[in-house]
Amino acid sequence: MRRRVARALARPLVLAAVGAAIPLATAAPSAADSVVIGGFPVDVSHSPWAVALASRDRFGGTRAGQFCGGVVVGRTAVLTAAHCLGGDVVGAPPTRDLKVITGRTDLLSRQGKEIPVRAVWVNPHYDADTNAGDFAVLTLAEPVPQSSVIPLAGAGDPAYAPGTSATVYGWGDTAGTGVYAHSLHAARVHVLPDAQCERAYPGGSEDGTYLPGSMLCAGEATGGRDACQGDSGGPLVARGRLIGLVSWGNGCGRAEGPGVYTRVSDIVRTLSQVLGVKASRGAPDEP
Ligand code: ARG
Repeated sequence: MRRRVARALARPLVLAAVGAAIPLATAAPSAADSVVIGGFPVDVSHSPWAVALASRDRFGGTRAGQFCGGVVVGRTAVLTAAHCLGGDVVGAPPTRDLKVITGRTDLLSRQGKEIPVRAVWVNPHYDADTNAGDFAVLTLAEPVPQSSVIPLAGAGDPAYAPGTSATVYGWGDTAGTGVYAHSLHAARVHVLPDAQCERAYPGGSEDGTYLPGSMLCAGEATGGRDACQGDSGGPLVARGRLIGLVSWGNGCGRAEGPGVYTRVSDIVRTLSQVLGVKASRGAPDEP
């Protein structure tokens, strides 16, 4: 069953692939400074763990094929959202042209590297109805520097306290209207009390169901700053640690529809099992 997340993702992406180049191509670079939603442009050298998932075959070459975000959690491991890797998004089996773009601020440039994906692991417990368990791991065909790896927040990390300032990164929609950024943006948001998302997303609607154990609520009480379509799978960072992955929300930047993120502290155990072999192989000083 295709629920809201898949549609939310697929619709703007189709736009991006087919027509959308329109707003992007005509937008003056200087006009593009309101973004993720309510964010600001950043240089990827300051957030080297922020990467783009791309497939030119599936999404066209206008923005290097970018369709989701991701985050480097090991020298050959990129964490992203499970819903970014659905068959409707990347094909089944996933397109062989799936790449991770590292070190590239502007998708229109040739900066950084496009690294092929050697293996795809999607959380088998991902639930497209509630959106629970929205995470996946990509194995890179070649390692990135250790300095690009971001530490993960664990259980009880104080960064999860409501009110904590956090930053979300992505190349996604900057207006909520299918206007895709071509350079990386970030927005400052706050960790919100679970109650706020429980109220907004009680279940029984087209939206997912907010489950506080595995999800994280973030945004601004008054709206305005948020992640949006195309940012999915990308990082939410607080106190220098990865606390969330962009997952879903109702609209973008709406006070009544806060951003919902995959709660990283809830997946670290699964993750270390998935990464286990690779983690023990990857010596920190490997070239
Ligand atoms: N599902 C979207 C994507 O695939 C991310 C939506 C995030 N929405 C939000 N309001 N925070 O890119």
